[in-house]
Order: sequence, then structure tokens, then C-alpha cells
Amino acid sequence: MSEEIYFVAGARPNFMKIAPLVHQSVELGIKFKIIHTGQHYDYNMSRVFFDALKIPEPDHFLEAGSGTHAYQTAKIMIEFEKLLLKEKPKLVVVVGDVNSTIACALVAKKLFIDVAHVEAGLRSFDRKMPEEINRVLTDQISDLLFTSEKDAEINLKNEGIEEEKIFFVGNVMIDTLVMNLEKAKLLDTYKSLGLRKKEYALITLHRPSNVDKKEDLIKIVDALNYLSERIKIFFPVHPRTNKNLIEYGLYERLKSENLIISEPIGYLEFLNLMVNSKLILTDSGGIQEEASYLGIPILTLRENTERPITVEFGTNTIIGRDFDLLKGQINDILESKYKKGQEIAGWDGNAARRIMDIIKIKYFE
Ligand code: UD1
Repeated sequence: MSEEIYFVAGARPNFMKIAPLVHQSVELGIKFKIIHTGQHYDYNMSRVFFDALKIPEPDHFLEAGSGTHAYQTAKIMIEFEKLLLKEKPKLVVVVGDVNSTIACALVAKKLFIDVAHVEAGLRSFDRKMPEEINRVLTDQISDLLFTSEKDAEINLKNEGIEEEKIFFVGNVMIDTLVMNLEKAKLLDTYKSLGLRKKEYALITLHRPSNVDKKEDLIKIVDALNYLSERIKIFFPVHPRTNKNLIEYGLYERLKSENLIISEPIGYLEFLNLMVNSKLILTDSGGIQEEASYLGIPILTLRENTERPITVEFGTNTIIGRDFDLLKGQINDILESKYKKGQEIAGWDGNAARRIMDIIKIKYFE
């Protein structure tokens, strides 16, 4: 067995989560390798984050690419197994809930290699979401479960996970935000797009449940048109959403003078756009957390959230498909009547430090 640990990342939201873990490992002198599964491969879905977050080049790139869930997961597993058989790391650290997370956790456990899951215990209780399946299964087989909010521990205990494996450490995505906020504020991203501070809405959409079926996507396009009659909109379009907007011929319907459409954008630029926005409309998981930390009103186009603390203490409202509720909340925000958020425990920029201290004690002392 080698003296190294592996950090696995594959899809866009993973990169912000491994960044502070990588930086802490360097600081603590813990040897590591970065494994990029290749689930996301476009420059602006992957490479741009490595550059901005100063993550070293991946040591291995598994080139999994896109495909059906079985194809993508299986391809990652096959390639990751070859690597583990050769190198036998001491611990495999997986983050979040994407297909790369469960694929690599499963391979490692079957080779008797310990697995740590960062962002464990989050549950939407909606098993139609591929991410929920990934979360439940990854947590069941992990040896260390690092949680980011208080409900996560309750969820894990309810699923029979032993208490000794669970550690409340806070939120690594907020670590990355804290580390980069001042830098992002100095950029002129929103100004260069012709937007004015607190006078525009930021949109992100990519959930299969919102963008894969034509009738769902039409409703969302119409909601964006409603919003664009009231405020300027900036909408960086995820590849999945872009493909479907083209296939269903919906870009024409979405046209409005108040709407700017772009490709996915980099981390610091997106952070600049978040901080200066009046409101965010999303179906992302991580952005619910980031907006809550920043105190920006956020409306989530999903039926549920695996991050309930963002509703309880943050600035998040779950809209589901209730477009009347959406319009009401938009108007409240524009009239400055919307709820204000509060501080959330453990979202302080030091989560990665707490995680790596635990890993150091357990595996290196
Ligand atoms: C994945 C994650 C989701 C995460 C999201 C962030 C799973 C099950 N889902 O969803 O949890 O919130 O990433 O983006 O792991 N594509 C490109 N270029 C890329 C990557 C993807 O064009 O760099 C296209 C692919 O052709 C594919 C589509 O986008 O058809 C979706 O990619 P995929 O990784 O399958 O899922 P996401 O929807 O991105």
C-alpha cells in the first residue's frame, strides 16, 4: 500500500470541493494524487476551474466522457480499477454526488481500500434524482463521512451508519468561496456584460427533471420571459440544457432584449456575477449554498432540496413547478420584501482543514 491518498473529481461541482482539500494536504505535507475521471471534459466545464482554483494538473485522467448512466459509471469504474490495482493508495476521497463519486467509491471498497466521502448525508428523499442514488450508495460504503450541515448526520444515523464514522466538519464549497471572494469582487465581469449592480438576475439550469422534456422546458422558458420583463437576466447555459434548447427549437421563444445568453463561465467570473446580482434562479445544489452564504435571494426550481439548511437559515426558497409562487417571490425580491439569511454553522472557510486534520490522525500518525 502506498503512502498517498487519492482525490477524485469528475464533474464541474467537484472541482471547487477538492481545491481546498488539495491545498490543505500540501500544507500538512500529506502526499496525494488527483484523479480526474473525465466525466466533464469541455474546457469551460473542467479545465477553467483547475486554472482559477490553482489545483495542480490531475495525475491521472480517466477519459470517461458522456454516455448513459450505466455506460459512464462503468467506464469510470473500469479505468479506476486498473489504476488502483497498480497504485493501491491509502485512502480514496470522493466528493459530492455525481456519477464519478459512486463509481470510484465502489471500486475502491471492493479492493479493500478505505473511502472518505465529503458532503455525506445530504438527502432530497427523491430517488428519481440520479444524485440521490449516488449519495445513498456512496454513504453506505464509506469509512469516513464528512458532513456539511446538521440534518446530514440525522439522515446517516437513520440509514444505520455508525456514529463513529460521521464527522461534522462544515462546507468545503464555502471554503473555496471564502478563499476567492475578494479576488472575484475585483473582476469587472458584470460591468463588461453591460449589467448594473443589483439590477440583474442570474440563471442556471441543468437538471434532467427540468430540461430534458420539451413541455417542462417550455414552462421554464416562459418563466424566464416573465422575469426578463422585470429585470435584466444573465443565463450561462449548461451543455445539457443547450442541447435541448436547440433540439426543441426553444432559443427563438427565449429571445428578449433583456436576456444575455452565454456558454458556461469560469468560477471567479460566476462568483463576481453572483455577488452583484439581485436574485438567482437555479436548479443547482451548490449554488443554493453559495447564494445563502452571500445573502443573495435564491429561488430553486426543484420540488425538494438535499440542502434544507439553505431554506431554514439561508436565502433559499423551493419553488418546484409553482409558477405563481415564483412570480410572487420574484416580486417580493424586487420590492426588497424577501427574507434575509443568517450565518450557518461550519460554513467558515475552515472545513477542509478540519477534514485533513482527521485524515492525518487516522491514516498518518
Ligand atoms: C452532472 C451531474 C450533476 C451535476 C452536474 C453539474 C451526475 C449524475 N450528474 O450532470 O449532479 O450537478 O454534472 O454540471 O453525475 N457535456 C458536455 N461537455 C462536458 C460535460 C458534459 O457537452 O464537459 C454534455 C454531455 O454530452 C452530456 C450532458 O452534457 O450529454 C450532460 O453531462 P453529464 O455529465 O451526463 O451530466 P450533467 O447533466 O452535467
